[in-house]
Amino acid sequence: MCGIVGYNGKNQATEILLKGLEKLEYRGYDSAGIAFQTSSGVKMFKEKGRIAELRKAITEEIDAHVGIGHTRWATHGVPDQKNSHPHKSASGRFTLVHNGVIENYEKLTRDYLQDVQLTSDTDTEIIVQLIEHFSLTGMVTDEAFRKALSLLHGSYAIAMLDDQDPDTIFVAKNRSPLLVGVSSECNVVASDAMAMLQVTDQFIELHDGEVVLLGRDGIVIETIDGDKIERDPYTAELDMSDIEKGTYPHYMLKEIDEQPGAMRKIIEAYSNEEGTLDIDPFIKQAFQHADRLYIIAAGTSYHAGLIGKEYFEKLAGLPAEVHISSEFGYNMPLLSKKPLFLFITQSGETADSRQVLVKIKALGFPSITMTNVPGSTLSREADHTLLLHAGPEIAVASTKAYTAQLAVLAITAFSLGGGSQKLELKKELAITANAIQTLTDAKKDIEKIALELLTDKRNAFFIGRNLDYYVSLEGALKLKEISYIQAEGFAGGELKHGTIALIEEGTPVIALATQPGVSPNLRGNVKEVTARGAHACIISMEGDSEQGDELILPHVHDLLTPLVTVIPLQLLSYYASLQRGCDVDKPRNLAKSVTVE
Ligand code: F6R
Repeated sequence: MCGIVGYNGKNQATEILLKGLEKLEYRGYDSAGIAFQTSSGVKMFKEKGRIAELRKAITEEIDAHVGIGHTRWATHGVPDQKNSHPHKSASGRFTLVHNGVIENYEKLTRDYLQDVQLTSDTDTEIIVQLIEHFSLTGMVTDEAFRKALSLLHGSYAIAMLDDQDPDTIFVAKNRSPLLVGVSSECNVVASDAMAMLQVTDQFIELHDGEVVLLGRDGIVIETIDGDKIERDPYTAELDMSDIEKGTYPHYMLKEIDEQPGAMRKIIEAYSNEEGTLDIDPFIKQAFQHADRLYIIAAGTSYHAGLIGKEYFEKLAGLPAEVHISSEFGYNMPLLSKKPLFLFITQSGETADSRQVLVKIKALGFPSITMTNVPGSTLSREADHTLLLHAGPEIAVASTKAYTAQLAVLAITAFSLGGGSQKLELKKELAITANAIQTLTDAKKDIEKIALELLTDKRNAFFIGRNLDYYVSLEGALKLKEISYIQAEGFAGGELKHGTIALIEEGTPVIALATQPGVSPNLRGNVKEVTARGAHACIISMEGDSEQGDELILPHVHDLLTPLVTVIPLQLLSYYASLQRGCDVDKPRNLAKSVTVE
């Protein structure tokens, strides 16, 4: 949550910083701000709302080659102008942006800042005031910066300007993502390479506890104690077209459409020299040494984990448990003798998942991160990484990362072998990619269903059995997060144990009936709700459909049905959100990368 950028170079900074912030808006969009070094000192603009509001507020031409910017997802303090970043020290000398959470900010205020008149409710302001406090004791800025950092407990990615040192941006990182970008024209800093691809594709990863003095012609990376660090840049393998909407009205629609292509890319990435689907032998060994797999994830990734458990048990004979990361770390179950932890996380930055990783590492247990973002925090900190290869996912609502997670989970379990269920996975995944394509091509039909089923509805239910149940949880999450319709996913048989009381005349019930063996039972559950007035929409699969089913999906292998059933649910949510005039890509109160617990 929150994104920061900084630019120090030959060109005018305004447009570069604004464009950078636009690329980081997925990290939070409660408010935005920017500060520049100009010939008459630091000039600052900040606005509540989106980057577009900030753009409007910058009405004058600013001659500046050094600047920092921030887009906020509010944690401490309501999202208003006074709590927006950048924050200034009392004298106005230091100006700072921050992504992260300072846990001991109240104690620091009591210990050091009793006499300072604070102007915001944020933890961030404490950092900049502390730096000024130490500078007033006679320390040079670099010293005061490090002294303040040494007192902070929590996570931070920081960029700071000093009125009296206009050629330097002071940068620091601990547990919040941050990269430095370098080129012959400029040096930059950003929470995500995407933000600064416009000026360079050469990035240097920063590690926790590192400090950077970012000048126009060079950078110095040091530990907080001042030991110099030499680290070569890497080339960010991102294409501008991967991160632009192109002709699409929304990233979400683009990302839904990218799923067949992502599926094919995953098949290619995980094919070995013999053309068989396989994973890295070291990762395989980690699985083979384990007596139980603990899958840890949040939100959509948790929903993928529920299906992953089925894959590991059925295809690899490996017992697996799935846990919500925010619960697991504070209430661990009894663990097996040889546990292996698999973290599923699109962003690789989710704080709830990371706190579990930190704890299980301290206990000496092995870990794997399955992520879409190479070099992300959880990827760096786990023993191994399995990449999703889905390409950047920018819409807040996860779509292509979910299907990529399912595919990589299936490939991993398949490559281990030893389970009771056999399939020709490569062929079946290729068939699945085609089925997804058929559905993304049928948008008009799904839009019509959304219109008939969800217009003016205040709630909706998704039901399914077996794998369909897990997909119904994901369908409900997607609908509620982007259309604000209250939606719940249920196991079909469970409704009659309480929830059926909520069914009224016209209540939408989206019923997934693709699971062999239990689709008759599910159809029975549909009868129970329609008898009570529900408007049911049955989604079934070729070979097991009945007259009156609203949508019949192309047939795929039983285990891979979730990759296909989820597509109409993603599209239903998309169109429901559009019909209500919601902000599809940036739903209220949310951010893409949840870096606070
Ligand atoms: C929902 C969604 C979230 C994320 C969750 C975990 O569409 O995107 O529920 O799945 O915040 O994020 P990652 O996978 O990045 O750990």
